[in-house]
Amino acid sequence: PASARPGPGADLLVGGVGLAEAAERFGTPLYVLDEGEVRSRARAYRQALPHAEVLYAAKAFLCSAMADWVAEEGLGLDVCSSGELWLAVSAGFPAQRILLHGNAKSPAELRLARRLRVGRIVIDGPAEIARLAALVAADTPQKVLVRVVPGIAAGHHAAVRTGVGGQKFGFPIEGGDAADAIARVLDQPGLELAGLHCHLGSQITEVEPYLRALDALVRLLAQVRERHGVELPELDLGGGHGIKYLPSDAEFDLAEFAVRLTDRLAVRCAEAGLEVPHLIVEPGRAIAGPAGVAVYRVLSVKHGADGHCFAAVDGGMGDNPRPALYGSQYSVRLVGRRSDADAMRADVVGRHCEAGDVLVRDAALPADLRPGDLLAVPAAGAYQLSMASGYNLVGRPAVAAVRDGRARLLIRRETVEDFRLREVGR
Ligand code: LLP
Repeated sequence: PASARPGPGADLLVGGVGLAEAAERFGTPLYVLDEGEVRSRARAYRQALPHAEVLYAAKAFLCSAMADWVAEEGLGLDVCSSGELWLAVSAGFPAQRILLHGNAKSPAELRLARRLRVGRIVIDGPAEIARLAALVAADTPQKVLVRVVPGIAAGHHAAVRTGVGGQKFGFPIEGGDAADAIARVLDQPGLELAGLHCHLGSQITEVEPYLRALDALVRLLAQVRERHGVELPELDLGGGHGIKYLPSDAEFDLAEFAVRLTDRLAVRCAEAGLEVPHLIVEPGRAIAGPAGVAVYRVLSVKHGADGHCFAAVDGGMGDNPRPALYGSQYSVRLVGRRSDADAMRADVVGRHCEAGDVLVRDAALPADLRPGDLLAVPAAGAYQLSMASGYNLVGRPAVAAVRDGRARLLIRRETVEDFRLREVGR
């Protein structure tokens, strides 16, 4: 996090709290969330896009505290399951500021969304139109957006590129699926079509793809007006804004995005003779990612005959599947003690039972690295814990929040007893 700075001894301070001190107190692996960083990132979005609505994408990471922080900073929430929806509303998040996504929403999820009165539901497939309409009485219409696919490839890995054809999300603009879906939604008295949605992909570092998406969506808005005589008031461009994992990584430029997007929207709408729609964005990673640090304890250091070193830690692909899933790269550093030893190259590997459980390949670490040392992996706040598993019956890590020199536990470590308690037969 931006707040990270050297502390007493060789500890690294995040939010004014030493990571080694937090690891002592709460155990490892430990995920430390810098509340101030989450809040200032949320605020930066509000300031850069004062006329837009900013919805935090809960899939990046959600817990009740996170919901409080983004709510207090004036953001809405994008959820993609009844689990995220229920947690947020239970935490007191105003349902009107929640938007529900999902390519396979169950009837029960849609019913829950209606019962809790979520502000918007994004229609992602043909079956959903009638399914949702059947739940809605015409006197309390449901505000919806239609998710369209503009045909733009962007994102760090094929698995997260959702702006192109040949993947499961949304209605392609090309070929007319989007136009058909829009016509069907407009036919449903219980559905109030507020606008269009698209999400291109994730960990995108350029602004250009968003401008092209905007062009495609404004063209579609103009088509809708021509065909149906209605001007849809909302345009949601999804999330995907990339962050730095390595110091050499490019990162998404929010200020450039805000200026160029707002200008382009004004120009394209003027050309098409449309009112400028209300803009919505859904950043997840850009808010949570840089605010998190994962802290692991080294359990084993193996120096091979070929000089190769493996430093094994007490977490791994169970709490961070991203390296194994996408080949994602991270940086790592020793915390808690100072070392004057030369640097060596080492693979920081996890404790899970497969050779592919490598958290950081070829990391530069002090040659005197030894069991008991603590390693910190920054940029750990998004899509790690939210994708964590219980592989090898290793429980998910604890999560602590830090702020103004104080640490507090948000989520306790999952224990083997948690696994056993779910068993109801044998
Ligand atoms: N809106 C929609 C509709 C989305 O599907 C997503 C992410 C977001 C917003 C937020 O995207 P963000 O700003 O966080 O990039 N597990 C992958 C990322 C999957 C993203 C899925 N959708 C990873 O670890 O890279």
